[in-house]
Amino acid sequence: MSNYKRIKGTKDIFGDEINYWYYVENSAKNALEKYGFKEIRTPIIESEELFSRGVGQETDIVQKEMYTFEDKKGRLLTLRPEGTASVVRAYIENSLINLGSPQKFFYIGPMFRYEKPQSGRYREFYQIGAEIFGTDYPLADAELIHLLHEFFRSLKLTNFKIKINSIGTQKSREKYKKVLKEYYTPFLPNLCEDCQRRYNTNIMRLIDCKIDKEIASNAPSILDYLDNESKEHFEKLKKYLDILEVPYEIDPKIVRGLDYYSKTAFEVEHLDLGEQAVIAGGGRYDDLVEQLGGPKTPAVGFAMGIERIIEALKKEHIEVKKVSQIDVYIAYQGEQAELESIKLSKELRKNDIKTYLNLSKRNLGGQLKHADRLNAKLSIIMGDEEVVNDVVTVRNMETGEQTKVQRSWVIEVILEKLQEFY
Ligand code: HAM
Repeated sequence: MSNYKRIKGTKDIFGDEINYWYYVENSAKNALEKYGFKEIRTPIIESEELFSRGVGQETDIVQKEMYTFEDKKGRLLTLRPEGTASVVRAYIENSLINLGSPQKFFYIGPMFRYEKPQSGRYREFYQIGAEIFGTDYPLADAELIHLLHEFFRSLKLTNFKIKINSIGTQKSREKYKKVLKEYYTPFLPNLCEDCQRRYNTNIMRLIDCKIDKEIASNAPSILDYLDNESKEHFEKLKKYLDILEVPYEIDPKIVRGLDYYSKTAFEVEHLDLGEQAVIAGGGRYDDLVEQLGGPKTPAVGFAMGIERIIEALKKEHIEVKKVSQIDVYIAYQGEQAELESIKLSKELRKNDIKTYLNLSKRNLGGQLKHADRLNAKLSIIMGDEEVVNDVVTVRNMETGEQTKVQRSWVIEVILEKLQEFY
């Protein structure tokens, strides 16, 4: 046993699990590119201030969950807890606004939050995110929600729900916050610990409390307090979603845990996932670019959690294609056979055939067992007899059928035999 253990809340991903990661990541890239998004890669470490200002001083993320440390020069750095603030920073710092508006970016990568680990909640987790900068047009919000719907359907998921809400502009929200505070005041002494704290720091979060649900369900609805601008935006969003035939529910309890949102907020919930059921979340953030020092730039985006999507695939028993299955395993015995095998492996790989050349001193039987364990489709067997006769033996690992093939025909025969596996 190693003396070293994974850090709590992190995981190693290998073996068959990788098939799910390829399935989700490749399908997501495909979907995002269909909607005109370009990839952006930003650093995993950023200055602490980017998140405390961007995500919001009073949020759980900034208050409790950030991995923050001093580097050797005393700079305060943070492992990114989310991607939006980083992309906004990159957008401003690299003057990407000069490339014209609107612009669409996507990213895939690890995020870090010091949360209590449990099923579906990790300290290192992966997000796939998308951000659109430079348009206040509600069609941008609708496109993102449509993309999410199409993407989840393309993964063959069915048991999920899209919930949308409007939390209004920052200005219009002030009135609602006052009303909400008045509503909650009589309940204050009996509220849960989190709610008692948030009553003073972040009153809107009280309505998505999982403990004081009953009180929250009777709270006044934000939708009754929207200003005209936010109302009109929300009406248009709904109209576009209807035209795009995206099924959705309106849920005034969607307030999101980050401070930068205005107007549209949305979440996708998977119904088999229990407590950590939100597989994607996002919304509009029209003030963030300016707040972080850039020009006034409306924006909207989302991020989804890869681990939770994979969990959902498993819950719905969706099988995913195996990736990187070995096409040919080359087994050999004898000095001449080894040299011939090395040459053959080079030829096979040149022809894009996924080839595993034996690297051990096992006998032929042991090598074939290894080929079986690696799930190779075919094996090539080379012994001294084969070398002398200028042939190789090709074995179908599924059926066990073996044929002798002229050395000069090997590539053609292998390519033909591989067709049978598709
Ligand atoms: P978020 O709701 O904090 O939003 O995270 C988005 C998604 O990341 C969640 O819906 C969930 O699937 C996944 N996630 C979050 N925390 C964890 C965790 N501890 N373990 C596993 N999965 C997790 C954002 O991060 C915003 N930046 C989204 C956004 C982009 N809004 C606008 N643009």
